[in-house]
Amino acid sequence: MNRKDDHLVYALKQENKINDFDRVRFVHHSIPSIGIEDVDFGTYIGKHKSNVPIYINAMTGGSKKAKEINQLLYQLALSFDIPFALGSFSNGLKDIKLLDTYMVYNNDDENRPIIMANIGADKTLEDAKKTIELLGVDVLQVHINAPQEMVMPEGERDFTSWSDHIKQMVLELDVDVIVKEVGFGMSKETVEKLKKLGVKMIDVGGRGGTDFVHIENQRRTYKMDYLENYGLSTVESLLEIKDISNIRVYASGGVRHAFDVVKSLALGAEAVGLSRFFLELVSTKTLEEAKRTTKELLLEIKEIMVLLNAKSLTDLRHKDLVYDLELMNYLSQRK
Ligand SMILES: Cc1cc2nc3c(=O)[nH]c(=O)nc-3n(C[C@H](O)[C@H](O)[C@H](O)COP(=O)(O)O)c2cc1C
Repeated sequence: MNRKDDHLVYALKQENKINDFDRVRFVHHSIPSIGIEDVDFGTYIGKHKSNVPIYINAMTGGSKKAKEINQLLYQLALSFDIPFALGSFSNGLKDIKLLDTYMVYNNDDENRPIIMANIGADKTLEDAKKTIELLGVDVLQVHINAPQEMVMPEGERDFTSWSDHIKQMVLELDVDVIVKEVGFGMSKETVEKLKKLGVKMIDVGGRGGTDFVHIENQRRTYKMDYLENYGLSTVESLLEIKDISNIRVYASGGVRHAFDVVKSLALGAEAVGLSRFFLELVSTKTLEEAKRTTKELLLEIKEIMVLLNAKSLTDLRHKDLVYDLELMNYLSQRK
């Protein structure tokens, strides 16, 4: 089986019931003064307006199975106008015949949702230009995934080119560029460094959901299982960077339901990415059931916003949050 197909299988086997979102609570205020019709949860992905505050985050492409998954994910994206990130285009760059496993959308369709392509920071500016041209996307995600590379038997062992590649891409490309982690989170030092490279948008991609160390360990003979759970959680990452200005923050990693989405938004994210959630939906449910669940997810986000008396994402950002002791301990050590 190819690597991307392995990832689909092992990602679905992984279960993460508890994560750092459970360490965050809202202070409850008993008398909301708005109704659900008052809520507008629209946002922006880069310069593109999105009517929903979530996106389907990067997963797959490059095989027959990947194409089927992408087609189903795109049906959800199209039905609810949800921005949709394709999986890493590295296979497409190697073999143009695989283009149709990514291009499951029609660029001439005026109802097409925001589409994001995805490549690794090991790729050059030329690779990035080719990706954007071939796929006709609105946004480019550039993933940084050092822990995964280390555990991947065939992974990268030299990261000396990453910073330069990122710098060139943000400087030269016309589309919005989001630098994204893949489940290991981002420290404030990382984000300051990215800012120096010219990066304007990040997806903190934190720990708490899909763990690529665990996934890659399934593909190795000599397991590095001591590295499982490595990294910063999505909540820790958002708290790390909450005082950094002039950077647009997106969040993903371990988002299980509407409440995690709302907590991420309250912690400063402009939109929230879900991968495993949507992979499970399209892999285990009929398309009709998957649509019903997606509709319910969006409704529940609005309902929780009413409960918190937030008409918009800006209102949500001012909500009182409290953290448990373990999280407070982390924060006090990082002061
Ligand atoms: C099957 C699978 C494949 C993935 N492939 C990619 C990828 O190609 N590029 C990327 O940036 N992230 C990739 N990711 C990582 C996700 O975009 C996301 O950052 C991570 O899964 C954490 O989110 P989750 O907990 O909602 O799954 C993949 C995730 C899954 C589950």
